[in-house]
Amino acid sequence: MSRAQEFLRPMVREMPGYEPILSVERMTAEYGMAPEELIKLDANENPYGALPEVREALGRLAAPQIYPDPECSALRQRLAWYHGVEEERIVVGAGLDEVIDLIMRACIDPGDAILNCPPTFSMYAFDGGMRGARIINVARKADFSLDMDGIRKAVETEQPRLLILPNPNNPDGGVLSTNEFQQLAELPLLLVMDEAYIQFYGEEHSVMDEVAKRDNLVVLRTFSKWAGLAGLRIGYGVFPVEIAAALMKIKQPYNVSVAAQVAATVTMDNIGKTKAVIARIREQREVLCAGLAQIEWLEALPSQANFVLCRVKGKKARQVTEELRKQGILVRCFDQPGLSNALRISVGTAEQMQRLLTALKELR
Ligand SMILES: Cc1ncc(COP(=O)(O)O)c(C=O)c1O
Repeated sequence: MSRAQEFLRPMVREMPGYEPILSVERMTAEYGMAPEELIKLDANENPYGALPEVREALGRLAAPQIYPDPECSALRQRLAWYHGVEEERIVVGAGLDEVIDLIMRACIDPGDAILNCPPTFSMYAFDGGMRGARIINVARKADFSLDMDGIRKAVETEQPRLLILPNPNNPDGGVLSTNEFQQLAELPLLLVMDEAYIQFYGEEHSVMDEVAKRDNLVVLRTFSKWAGLAGLRIGYGVFPVEIAAALMKIKQPYNVSVAAQVAATVTMDNIGKTKAVIARIREQREVLCAGLAQIEWLEALPSQANFVLCRVKGKKARQVTEELRKQGILVRCFDQPGLSNALRISVGTAEQMQRLLTALKELR
């Protein structure tokens, strides 16, 4: 071990690290393509981007030399109104990733247990692991539904402090029933419902209204997906008041940039206009699923999100990913225990879906 390595915490030295997707810059350099030629369907981004009103407001940013509002007041006011909750319940972060990390930092001591239900969003286990949490995995069933008995048993034996679940789940796009939610909310733990993709399912399925009625429920949202602001990094959570106050106390003071605050605030002021974008994405999800159903070596799972997970049969998902990549089409490949030989394809524009489906049909 080098002297420099000795300065690192042993768990940091030894951890494998998060494997992020390749940047557009790396991809265009590697494959010799212009960024606009790439069909990016690997990170569940919004192909329509931010609203024109947001782009205009960003172009008019007056004072980037001034630190941002540490309290994100203008945005929190809009969010409080939109969700019908008190402003004090809302904490905004540099992406939902930051909010998830803040929850771990505020609620988890090294050695505490957290429940995780893989296959799911990998940052829960990553952030929990960084806090030194014991990650208790209760694997989902073959159809990606939750193992409710397994969860109840793990709660009894391990006494986890929290459980984070996305609804719809990433990577399969499956959803939780009302009955499952009610059972989970009765467990003696902090239940964190990650609604990063709820707009593609329908906000009427959100449990946001339950937050004020319970002291163990958190609901998370992000502007990365439905609002097309992934590159600006902005997400938030709605919390029991005391937990929100604790997160505000420990967060970095200037965690959300001026640009991100303006973009999200202007999005909320024009929220009616985002409905059309969401509707188009839902429409193209149907087109994608219908097209995938015609490809006999793919089995697409039903999804309520802006992506579709496919099991690959008789071919290697990695090879398919590579073949598509050569044509400038990026999809996400999964090949790990519990999720082997699968592709996750984000829903794009009508033209992107046609190019993808044609490329898949031509693969031999
Ligand atoms: C379920 C889920 N939660 C949270 C995030 C992170 O969102 P953000 O871009 O706001 O950090 C993602 C991103 O893919 C996600 O899939």
